[in-house]
Amino acid sequence: MARVAVVSGGSRGIGAAVSTALKAAGYSVAATYAGNDAAATKFKAETGIPVYKWDVSNYKQCAEGLKQVEADLGPVDILVNNAGITRDSAFHKMTPEQWFEVINTNLNSLFNMTRPVIEGMRERGFGRIVNISSINGQKGQFGQTNYSAAKAGDLGFTKALAQESAGKGVTVNAICPGYIGTEMVKAVPKEVLEKSILPQIPVRRLGEPEEIARCVLFLVSDDAGFITGSTLSANGGQYMA
Ligand code: CAA
Repeated sequence: MARVAVVSGGSRGIGAAVSTALKAAGYSVAATYAGNDAAATKFKAETGIPVYKWDVSNYKQCAEGLKQVEADLGPVDILVNNAGITRDSAFHKMTPEQWFEVINTNLNSLFNMTRPVIEGMRERGFGRIVNISSINGQKGQFGQTNYSAAKAGDLGFTKALAQESAGKGVTVNAICPGYIGTEMVKAVPKEVLEKSILPQIPVRRLGEPEEIARCVLFLVSDDAGFITGSTLSANGGQYMA
């Protein structure tokens, strides 16, 4: 039986590349998405990967959605917590909504998505959890107090849960992508991207979503069983943690 993998935010951007790579490697994949029905429908038609719509910032929706995935595909062996949003603003102009939306979607989602599947992974003695954090959780980023705080929180979550899960065959790791050529990065003002961000990247280009997907593929493999609680940076040399 193919292992079952759930990728949150799995129909667009980095998540779509991860879902596609996992399917190509023989996993049975479910991709979740929050709101973009058109993109999800297109993704499903193109890849044959089933899509599930729920809000990762809502615990009840996650618990019910994951139950449905398990009824359809079988117990979840692999969870890729990838869904994320930005609400960039200088902190002195940031609204409570911009703060809480990002914390709820990028940090509280790790509780909401992982809690419903962790007991099953422990009982079965196997699990792989990969949290997509960010370079900006490692170094902080002007205009992203909310996002940097959430992504740094994802790293703390990863290290604590890795310790709790190691004895049960469940590994928990984080990947910190740098600036990847997705819609999220393309939404950064052009001038900021060209003048302030790109010159900081020693390999002199944005990353490709597939470059992050390959990191995920490795971390979820049997070969990576000795790696847990780690942070894998894939940022073109922009920040060496
Ligand atoms: N470093 C230092 N100073 C900066 C700066 C920076 N990165 N960006 C702006 N400033 C300065 C400006 O020069 C300006 O200074 P003066 O008042 O002296 O002229 C001042 O801050 C205000 O600048 P703006 O008028 O541009 O401020 P704003 O409030 O309109 O916008 C911003 C600020 C929202 C932060 C905007 O610059 C922005 O969107 N920056 C991009 C942030 C970013 O990198 N986001 C990453 C998104 S991708 C992602 O998150 C994926 C991932 O994981 C990597």
